[in-house]
Amino acid sequence: MPPKIAAGNWKMHGDGASLSELDALIAAHTAPVARIVICPPATLIHRMAERASGSAIAIGGQTCHAASQGAHTGDIAAAMLTDAGATHVILGHSERRADHAETDAEVRAQAEAALAAGLTVIVCVGETGAERDADVTLAVVETQLSGSIPDGVTAATLVIAYEPVWAIGTGRVPTTEQIAEVHGAIRAHLTTRFGEAGREMAILYGGSVKPGNAAEIFAVRDVNGALVGGASLKAADFAGIIAAL
Ligand code: G3P
Repeated sequence: MPPKIAAGNWKMHGDGASLSELDALIAAHTAPVARIVICPPATLIHRMAERASGSAIAIGGQTCHAASQGAHTGDIAAAMLTDAGATHVILGHSERRADHAETDAEVRAQAEAALAAGLTVIVCVGETGAERDADVTLAVVETQLSGSIPDGVTAATLVIAYEPVWAIGTGRVPTTEQIAEVHGAIRAHLTTRFGEAGREMAILYGGSVKPGNAAEIFAVRDVNGALVGGASLKAADFAGIIAAL
């Protein structure tokens, strides 16, 4: 069975005052049933990793550069994330693909750098609303998976997050049938490419997951957890989602 994972993507939210939310999360999860990861803005990674040390909460970055160092103003190398205490990194989020024109090939190169640095990668895929309307969702996701996932990954180092772009931050959630169809296609891709290991890789759903809809989403076949944006910012909300796993 793939691990159950609840990952929080804080995006560009949070400052020193937000560390109290991490403290509350740590206090509430001394014996967790799921792997819990918080991916704060880069400015908080080191402080969070120090605070979460020895707890059940892992800390991750939200992107990394494919190069190990160099003249890349504003970017962060994978080894810098591990140096700051991160164990995970989100790659290829649709906001990175849209805001920074990241391609599948770049996401793959970032993933290779992250794996070499010892990070577990959470690779995001998902269709836009226009692609869903044009009925090309499965083709889009297949292309992203083929282009973004490097060779040599294992169930311990690769997590996939299916995030329909139209469901992110909108309160709109796909039907359980739609989620099942895409997660099934992702599972088929992973097992075709990685054999038995593909059965053990976690596939997360992301897009307007809340405490109120989490249980229904988690009941869908091949949904092994969630990548949560807005509802991960407050420990009480995120704990409600974790409890549904
Ligand atoms: O990466 C998580 C994300 O894009 C979903 O955001 O706010 O809809 O949970 P949200």
